[in-house]
Amino acid sequence: MNDRATVPTLENSAFFMPFSMNRQFKKAPRLIARAEGMHYYTPEGRKLIDGTSGLWCVNAGHCREKIVKAVQKQVAELDFAPAFQMGHPLAFEFADRIAALAPGDLKRVFFTNSGSESVDTALKLALAYHRARGEGHRIRLIGRERGYHGVNFGGTAVGGVVGNRKIFGALVAGVDHIRHTHDLEKNAFSRGQPKHGAELADDLERLCALHDASTIAAVIVEPVACSGGVLVPPVGYLERLRAICDKHGILLIFDEVITAWGRLGKPFGAQHFGVLPDLIATAKGITNGTVPMGAVFMRERIYQAFMTGPENAIEMPHGYTYSSHPLACAAGLATMQVYEEEGLLTRAAELWPYWEEQAHALKGLPNVIDIRNIGLIAAIELAPRAGAPGMRGLDAHTKAFEKGAYIRVAGDIIALAPPLIIRKEEIDQLFEIVRGVLKTTN
Ligand SMILES: Cc1ncc(COP(=O)(O)O)c(C=O)c1O
Repeated sequence: MNDRATVPTLENSAFFMPFSMNRQFKKAPRLIARAEGMHYYTPEGRKLIDGTSGLWCVNAGHCREKIVKAVQKQVAELDFAPAFQMGHPLAFEFADRIAALAPGDLKRVFFTNSGSESVDTALKLALAYHRARGEGHRIRLIGRERGYHGVNFGGTAVGGVVGNRKIFGALVAGVDHIRHTHDLEKNAFSRGQPKHGAELADDLERLCALHDASTIAAVIVEPVACSGGVLVPPVGYLERLRAICDKHGILLIFDEVITAWGRLGKPFGAQHFGVLPDLIATAKGITNGTVPMGAVFMRERIYQAFMTGPENAIEMPHGYTYSSHPLACAAGLATMQVYEEEGLLTRAAELWPYWEEQAHALKGLPNVIDIRNIGLIAAIELAPRAGAPGMRGLDAHTKAFEKGAYIRVAGDIIALAPPLIIRKEEIDQLFEIVRGVLKTTN
């Protein structure tokens, strides 16, 4: 079926699309008009299975009635409330609701509107925390190669995806990076955490020696680096990073914008790995993607470090006009209700073995050089075409759209992370489409 004929001409549209090939897209648009459950629908009504939960955010599936109704009710009741020196009850209720799910003593919550804002907020909290306790000399922030921490200045600076950094000048001073953990020679076709590479965490010791550990405020990593190509941490790696941070008084920040809210079979990735960070940045699935929102969780001692000094002083001169927006809180509360009622925060653990089998069954198809998986995430890495990295991945993306699936690619890596409501038959359908795509992508 050729749907393109009925799609409106977008070539002169004013819309400067984010993270997109604007000119190419506008010539041959891939539009989505409607969504329900596991599926998107094109303007012509063609059905697409959602292989990547929108942008890794629609964990409970699309247009869930409880969430839709909660947002509709809220917008008619309280459309906006200022969060500076004022409050509305839902903000406090929602903070307590999600704090109850958080690991260890990460029970204090700062609201933002996106993953990027959560990351920058976490970085600022780390710097301000050290200063509040008399260690203002801790000014450096450490990220990791191939990490993705959103697009604000702090997140871009600690991020390690070269293409996202190189055109934006010097970014933020005092930032350095540890090595990434991707090693196909040793770990190709790993199931779950790869065996080799825990020692890569020791790269942090190198930076501690280079900069002097007493100048480092925080290290930020994604427990699983998803947007940079689904890089699963080697066995023992995160534990080692935690130990090195403890040794040197450095805060460990987990960027769980993707791994929180059930993706790894627990509410938070930290709980799956059994490693407790000092701060956690989240967003996306916190409202099932319906209303923009993010939240940063921090340990009690970090919160308490700010609760000193005169009570008539603002403890944290930071926040956004839309922090704890009433619509986001309403959507978030309804989302948590759906997650709880349907057991979605642990469902990935149940589906994991089946998901893993189906993913690894693609081994041997043309150009497939690696398959890796964790929780309800899988990546299929394709060999790049000579002189044209990323083009094979792009072809796979567009072919999947033609064949009835929406999937994300990072360069030549296909990343799959469907809504956590997916049924086994739908897992089969998704991988069948990917199989067809791989067979016909040269
Ligand atoms: C780990 C991580 N951090 C931060 C972000 C940025 O989130 P947002 O696009 O909501 O700003 C993303 C987005 O994919 C992400 O995956």
